[in-house]
Amino acid sequence: MKARFSELLGAAQAQNAAVGAFTAYNLETAIGVVRAAARRKRGVILLVSERSFDDVFVGALVAVAERASVPVCVQLDHSVVHRTIEQAFELGAGAVLAAGSKLPFEHNVALVQWAAGHGEVEAELGGIEGDEDIATAVAAGALTDPEEAADFVRQTGAACLAVSIGNVHGTYREPPELDWARLEAIRERVDVPLSLHGASGLTDDHLRRAISLGIAKVNVNTELREQYLRTTELALDRVREGANVLALNSAQSEAVAAVVEAKLAVYDGY
Ligand code: 13P
Repeated sequence: MKARFSELLGAAQAQNAAVGAFTAYNLETAIGVVRAAARRKRGVILLVSERSFDDVFVGALVAVAERASVPVCVQLDHSVVHRTIEQAFELGAGAVLAAGSKLPFEHNVALVQWAAGHGEVEAELGGIEGDEDIATAVAAGALTDPEEAADFVRQTGAACLAVSIGNVHGTYREPPELDWARLEAIRERVDVPLSLHGASGLTDDHLRRAISLGIAKVNVNTELREQYLRTTELALDRVREGANVLALNSAQSEAVAAVVEAKLAVYDGY
């Protein structure tokens, strides 16, 4: 069933748990994500990246959400494009990430305020480095300033804030070091749920600690893509006989489901 973004986050926050948010590039991925959530009996967020944004695909993800046995919210990930944000809501997405962190502070505020007039919005403050669709090894960007975060959330009406505490998208160039004191300081000053992007490459202990310090949403993409590709490579020889695309699709969904299930077990472990 389709769920409101803020309901999923609020329920997770109340239980000291986090909602899993996973990027889907096709239906096999989306089906795998929702299957894992159903096995864990937990709600989940299906992310669609801006580069794969397409009316038909977003509509298909919304249909997956509607038919799921657990609460599912579709979210447009990282976008600053007004028309794409509007379209996402028109197509039935429950939330967008209005990703104005590279803009001057006032422009970031204006973007999030505008987007919040159309639906539920996650905002971002501080620079989360790395490409969202193609893994490159990067170092952490500008970290979120706790005082600025409080002011930003007050002004914007964001439903969720993505923090930069040493996390990056894709692959970590150095072993990740998250700034726990900064996360605590942000949590003390900001009421809305906080999200952690770039969770691929973080250990389960990192994730547990982040959740215990107030992270209520965890975004994973790269680890899903890697597992999807590994499984595809391994399955190809086997499925050539009989041109068995059914078996390939099923192996891909199951591979994604296994990664998601393991993550959800960590997020729920409180
Ligand atoms: P990773 O690709 O590093 O898992 O990051 C995913 C993400 O934050 C999507 O917004």
